[in-house]
Amino acid sequence: MNRKYRKTVIAGNWKMNKTPSETKEFMSAFKAILPKGRWCDVVFCVPAVCIPAAVRAVRDTRVCIGGENMNPNPSGAYTGEISASMLLDAGCKYVIIGHSERRAMGETDEDVNAKVLAALEAGLTPIMCCGESLEQRESGVTEEWISMQIKNGLKNVPEDKMRKVIIAYEPIWAIGTGRTATPEQAQEVCQGIRTVVRKLYSSKHARAISILYGGSMNEKNAAELLAQADIDGGLIGGASLVPEKFVQIIEAANPAPLQPEEEEPVEETAEA
Ligand code: 13P
Repeated sequence: MNRKYRKTVIAGNWKMNKTPSETKEFMSAFKAILPKGRWCDVVFCVPAVCIPAAVRAVRDTRVCIGGENMNPNPSGAYTGEISASMLLDAGCKYVIIGHSERRAMGETDEDVNAKVLAALEAGLTPIMCCGESLEQRESGVTEEWISMQIKNGLKNVPEDKMRKVIIAYEPIWAIGTGRTATPEQAQEVCQGIRTVVRKLYSSKHARAISILYGGSMNEKNAAELLAQADIDGGLIGGASLVPEKFVQIIEAANPAPLQPEEEEPVEETAEA
């Protein structure tokens, strides 16, 4: 984390878990134990049918809601799909794009790019995911692969819209496996992502972008991961389904008190 230059974001990805009624129950339990201090931005990306219940439940808090996917087209004959404007109108501020579980269903870098552009156009904050498989890591192509995913995903994203983009590094081999990347492994890739953003845009953009780690992040390993210079938060699956665990991760984003010169307010990413 580097709270002087960028926001810390703790985001849950509920995947295909919880019904609207369970969402309501979860949120009341979560709100009862949500820490008061504003140490980080807190987001829940939830199944589409849970969005209304989630938005209603967090209305009186600083918590934001997001979608887990979207279609890049504005409207039309795309049965079962959801557009950026639908998410926005339902009260979402964020949307996960290019999760490896969607890429495994056939989503390409080009699709990811179209979705990122459409999300930004609509005023949503995209959480663009990238990550390598175990085979890719073992064959030594991680850096090259991630760099390609980032370049392709950000194609034609204008400089002024980059302040809204969040990148999540999620090594596929660490997702839902209990096998977390070591803080050093995660830091190395997140630092590499920042270098790619620097080359594509500028040092200023690279310094300002929040890069999250995801993959078996939990209440036990969060502090160590978040202590890394280039890890600005987490995208959390399993541990975001349990209020107590998710709150402990939010608490882990509360490092030593800010130094006086670090107290300047950071610009809101989620607000238009
Ligand atoms: P887990 O935290 O369950 O490993 O999931 C990570 C993830 O895929 C978040 O998007």
